[in-house]
Amino acid sequence: MNRAEEIAAGFRAAAPTYRGMGSPLYGVLCAAAAEDPALMALAGRSRSGRPMMLLAAVHDLLLRSPEEPLGRYFATLVETPAPPDQAFPEFARFCREHEDEIVERLETRTIQSTFVERCWALAPAMSLVADAAGEPLNLVEIGCSAGVLLTFDAYAYDLGAAGRIGPADAPLTITGQSRGGPDLRIPRIGARIGIDLQPLDPRSAEDRRWLLASSFPEMREQQARLATALDVVARTDIRLLRGDALERLPEVLATTPSPLCVFSSSCLFYWTAEAREALDALLADASSERGIYRVGLEASDRFDTWRTGRAETPEHRRLAGTPNEMTLTRYHSGGLEARLLARTNPDYQVIEWN
Ligand SMILES: C[S@@+](CC[C@H](N)C(=O)[O-])C[C@H]1O[C@@H](n2cnc3c(N)ncnc32)[C@H](O)[C@@H]1O
Repeated sequence: MNRAEEIAAGFRAAAPTYRGMGSPLYGVLCAAAAEDPALMALAGRSRSGRPMMLLAAVHDLLLRSPEEPLGRYFATLVETPAPPDQAFPEFARFCREHEDEIVERLETRTIQSTFVERCWALAPAMSLVADAAGEPLNLVEIGCSAGVLLTFDAYAYDLGAAGRIGPADAPLTITGQSRGGPDLRIPRIGARIGIDLQPLDPRSAEDRRWLLASSFPEMREQQARLATALDVVARTDIRLLRGDALERLPEVLATTPSPLCVFSSSCLFYWTAEAREALDALLADASSERGIYRVGLEASDRFDTWRTGRAETPEHRRLAGTPNEMTLTRYHSGGLEARLLARTNPDYQVIEWN
């Protein structure tokens, strides 16, 4: 397959996936765009050629100029969107007319989708770490995007019959389901450091818009929660560092006191096995001086089976509901011990503790 064919195949595959994830509009647009060579050439201007890049570039322009006729199909812009199956001709025309601005985004931006709801899984993992390591816990997030997970302690958590915990004036309440697990408490947090190849600034209107543009237009509630979380991040003292985490971490470890918890969410899954091994080696090395904890909220290998729709065996189908994993790794005396804490669904809001 050449690159153009690969890109078109990516759009064809994304159509049912996006529909299944709650975006009929993106389902229609991906299916039709896959058969349009000019649009596939345009999509190829981003490094990855992924469908979400083109969709996010268009969505970003629409959020900036909501009066565009294409905007009437986007639930982010109108209360009652027009039927998605009529949207493609308008979409193709919009792409032709705004090609330069789209290309500028395709060449300079990446998809850095972030979901504050992931704190439903992160918060109990952090309470476990704080129990073992002490407080105030210093946090380093690998692949932090705009940093909305680094302020998990500012949100409230609705634990159903067990009540609501978190600051009384929390601007956001996170909900989810959990089977098993520790009693959630919110630990005291010290330093907050986020490392990203391209950190997004919650105080920048362009960066905020790009983040919202990277989500499905139909997910209005999620976008409202993200906007609230970005406001929290904007008024919190967070050190955001640009660069490859493997390169930035040595300096961060050297300057951040104990107790220390490094964490990642939906990031290491995209790394090569060698890069993940290098991370373990780096943290294990640093642990000859002091203990370090690492929490991972990442898709497991089973996720690939789920994502590519190859859930052909009963075992695959059983695991398809909980394809992500929460892991806790403790690095000490130059070595490491890793354990699986829980399995979760893809958005980390349904947790089955081990
Ligand atoms: C899908 S986003 C997840 C954001 C956030 N952790 C969350 O779960 O909501 C992954 C982020 O990891 C960043 N990233 C990927 N590889 C990285 C690396 N080697 N070093 C630093 N950041 C990286 C990307 O730029 C992107 O912002």
